Amino acid sequence: MKANPYLTDFYNQYDEDSRLTSKHGSVEFLTTMRYVEKYLKPCGRVLEIGAGTGRYSHALARQGYAVDAVELVEHNIEIFRKNTLPNENVTVLQGNALDLSAFSDNQYDITLLLGPLYHLYHKEDKQQAIREAIRVTKRGGIIFAAYVISDGCLLDEGFKRGNISVAEYIKNGLLDSETFAAKSEPKDLFELVRKEDIDDLMSAFPVKRLHYVASDGCALLMREAIDAMDRETFDLYLKYHFATCEREDLSGVASHAIDIFKKQ
Ligand SMILES: C[S@@+](CC[C@H](N)C(=O)[O-])C[C@H]1O[C@@H](n2cnc3c(N)ncnc32)[C@H](O)[C@@H]1O
Repeated sequence: MKANPYLTDFYNQYDEDSRLTSKHGSVEFLTTMRYVEKYLKPCGRVLEIGAGTGRYSHALARQGYAVDAVELVEHNIEIFRKNTLPNENVTVLQGNALDLSAFSDNQYDITLLLGPLYHLYHKEDKQQAIREAIRVTKRGGIIFAAYVISDGCLLDEGFKRGNISVAEYIKNGLLDSETFAAKSEPKDLFELVRKEDIDDLMSAFPVKRLHYVASDGCALLMREAIDAMDRETFDLYLKYHFATCEREDLSGVASHAIDIFKKQ
């Protein structure tokens, strides 16, 4: 299966390893880990699909779990391997979320699909990646599927930071001029969705949703304020975020969301 060259070029130069290490970046990491730890039992087996440089894989392996990881981009795999400590119970394989035939059915207690769905542009491909994640997960196991949320990105990268021009996006057909719904192609790199798109994708699968979590809440939109917080204020902010990250009335303005569901 051929990798999207735009994606490979992007991750070959992007510092993915540092993405979750700033104070504002840690909000997403800490939130995801909080939910993984809620469900992971001693001796649990984890598969991370689209593992990047292994932030989650390494953190979980260092807690004593057996972790297998799959990643598309060689550059990220090299950093993943460099970050692996001796005796860590972790493996990493080059592979594609759309075809996990290297892994047999019903193996994992927790499957993390935190990244590939950011870069799949067709409903069928997204459903294929979700189908594969479900297939390799044990019955009763939990799948975490992450998405980039369009309104959070539009507010942060568009209206606030000006890194994308909302007017140009509308002109080029990447945003609907009335609803502001997003459309992407491989050259645009990131596929932006709303919760209604996720609900539509998931309606094809007989799984039970446990949580829909705004994993970074307003952390990207408020990054300067968060990075300037002292420890005590940041702890209070995290407490607020954890208390509100499943509120439907707030989740649409996050930049990332995780759909957490159980294989029946
Ligand atoms: C934003 S990073 C996320 C890394 C990590 N899972 C995390 O959440 O921090 C997305 C990762 O998914 C990988 N990826 C994208 N499409 C993929 C695919 N079809 N199969 C496997 N990995 C893929 C990218 O190369 C990148 O390393």
